[in-house]
Amino acid sequence: MTVHFIGAGPGAPDLLTLRGRDRIAACPVCLYAGSLVPEAILDHCPPGARIVNTAPMSLDDIMAEISQAHTEGKDIARLHSGDLSVWSALGEQLRRLRQLDIPYTITPGVPAFAAAAATLGTELTLPGVAQSVVLTRTPGRASAMPPNETLSNFAATGATLAIHLSIHNLKQVVADLVPHYGADCPTAVVWRASWPDERVVRASLSEIEQAVGESMTRTALILVGPALAAEDFDESSLYALGYDRRFRPQSADSPFASTAPDNDSDEQAAERDT
Ligand SMILES: C[S@@+](CC[C@H](N)C(=O)[O-])C[C@H]1O[C@@H](n2cnc3c(N)ncnc32)[C@H](O)[C@@H]1O
Repeated sequence: MTVHFIGAGPGAPDLLTLRGRDRIAACPVCLYAGSLVPEAILDHCPPGARIVNTAPMSLDDIMAEISQAHTEGKDIARLHSGDLSVWSALGEQLRRLRQLDIPYTITPGVPAFAAAAATLGTELTLPGVAQSVVLTRTPGRASAMPPNETLSNFAATGATLAIHLSIHNLKQVVADLVPHYGADCPTAVVWRASWPDERVVRASLSEIEQAVGESMTRTALILVGPALAAEDFDESSLYALGYDRRFRPQSADSPFASTAPDNDSDEQAAERDT
């Protein structure tokens, strides 16, 4: 018996990996975080599957469900929204499973920040503008932030910020960021990215709160940074004419010309190409 953790994606049911779909289809038990996982994904469960919405349950209740399935030798599909690597409560479940010696697998999903960037039609890392994306949040009722993980500290880098779980805190987000990014910094709020009712508000940092008003609660992502509206950025070297690289040696003298890809480790190639 195995617990298969599966990233269910940001909302659109077809933003699920093929591996995730196949694992769901093979499991007689499905536990899903009903607050955000789209119900249409449950259509992949096999007929007669036990399907449990864990939104109202405690961790102990969830572990009781898992232990029951373990006793019966039934695999579980455990669904969380987006990807499992951020804000999914994966860590605490894995720790319990390790203590109980119950095997598990992890299948990644499309995270909300990627869906929001797609909705905006934007690359979040533009050459010379921003080369980092910070996935962060502000403190919540149940979650304090580690002392150094402040918006001000992240903002000092000028990176693109993808601020989760914070739409109710938008006023404070703006107050913390204006001193670093300036009042005119491009900002967007994407509400329910990839759901049929998704909505987008774009404004400058100082105007975003008024632009959003009361219309967006809970499932929204705040994106801030110059990359959101930059047009005046460099093209990357990757496709530049004349840029000598492993897959496009520019001359017989190129250090890449004699590289036999089959004998080359990916790490070596990546090192030379950057
Ligand atoms: C508990 S976290 C889950 C994050 C998820 N594991 C991921 O990979 O994106 C929930 C927060 O993610 C963001 N979020 C999740 N789905 C979203 C969507 N479809 N559109 C916009 N934001 C979303 C919101 O900030 C929301 O408050």
